[in-house]
Amino acid sequence: MDLTTKYLGLDLAHPLMPGASPLATELDSVRRLEDAGASAIVMHSLFEEQIAMEQAASLAHEDAHAESSAEATSYFPRPEGYRLGPDDYLALLGRIKGAVKVPVIASLNGTTPGGWLSYARQMQQAGADALELNVYHVPTDPKVTAEQVEGAAVEMVKAVKKSVTIPVAVKLGSFYSSLPHFAHRLEAAGADGLVLFNRFYQPDIDVEKLEVRRTLQYSTSAELNLRLRWLAILSGRLRPSLAVSGGVHAATDVVKAVMAGADAVQLVSALLQQGPAHLKQLREELSRWLEQHEYESLAQMRGSMNLAKSPDPTAYERANYIQILQGWKP
Ligand SMILES: Cc1cc2nc3c(=O)[nH]c(=O)nc-3n(C[C@H](O)[C@H](O)[C@H](O)COP(=O)(O)O)c2cc1C
Repeated sequence: MDLTTKYLGLDLAHPLMPGASPLATELDSVRRLEDAGASAIVMHSLFEEQIAMEQAASLAHEDAHAESSAEATSYFPRPEGYRLGPDDYLALLGRIKGAVKVPVIASLNGTTPGGWLSYARQMQQAGADALELNVYHVPTDPKVTAEQVEGAAVEMVKAVKKSVTIPVAVKLGSFYSSLPHFAHRLEAAGADGLVLFNRFYQPDIDVEKLEVRRTLQYSTSAELNLRLRWLAILSGRLRPSLAVSGGVHAATDVVKAVMAGADAVQLVSALLQQGPAHLKQLREELSRWLEQHEYESLAQMRGSMNLAKSPDPTAYERANYIQILQGWKP
């Protein structure tokens, strides 16, 4: 079965790849992912905060440990609390590049345009075939407008695009007031792809200790529906390619994401739980599913359930909403 796909201008054997995570922090696990057939490797992120800390320390010619005074800084990990420092990250990227044949996508993660974005060029120089720019940001300041939040992301994309020639994907959250408009702004800024979506950190409260409890729960397929909806709304109406991230566990999840318009399918929770071999199994099940349903290729199925041809996607979405509410029976 022909499962080939084009993502960020890269020709891939199939759409399945590990998403940004600790899955690719060691050479051994990266090789295991490639052996299991990953069509690309997405590295974990290098964070704006850790780069800024390193840059501040080298500017001041002092140890980054001594630098912080503001309370805000104290919330963040110390340099040693990050998986890898910026230089180690670049070195690992170079080693991964030398060890695998599939494309390697490096990841930058931050919220403001600034000097830290210079690492994009260094990632390209270290061998990255593409970049993922994760604009994870939860607005908490009532004085900051939606326009400012989106504007910062657009400026970041422009800055990165100016400094690299490799393709750039933007990994987004789902909480934008007009995602299609924002997506078009990102397209105009040069984004080559969008990754839908970030999974937000959802703190729990320890009611006895009166503390916020950090939680990291694996996703389930139930989280896919939100992605399907936005893939279907954006697919076929934008130049950038689309990747799904969040809630892909079974082969039918992959089928749904591709039908809704995904060019690439990223998995993290499923691979952390089941191991890299799950990628191979999904690929085989995907091929079988397509054969059984008489598709000639994955491309034939892509976008078949998107809203690109809908005369009025807004009315379609609203009509479905009303029908589901009105159709409820005890
Ligand atoms: C342990 C862990 C580490 C992660 N690290 C990153 C990261 O460094 N950068 C990033 O953009 N996303 C990161 N993510 C988010 C994943 O890339 C992905 O978007 C999210 O887990 C949803 O996909 P899933 O449902 O397949 O898990 C991480 C997720 C997990 C579980």
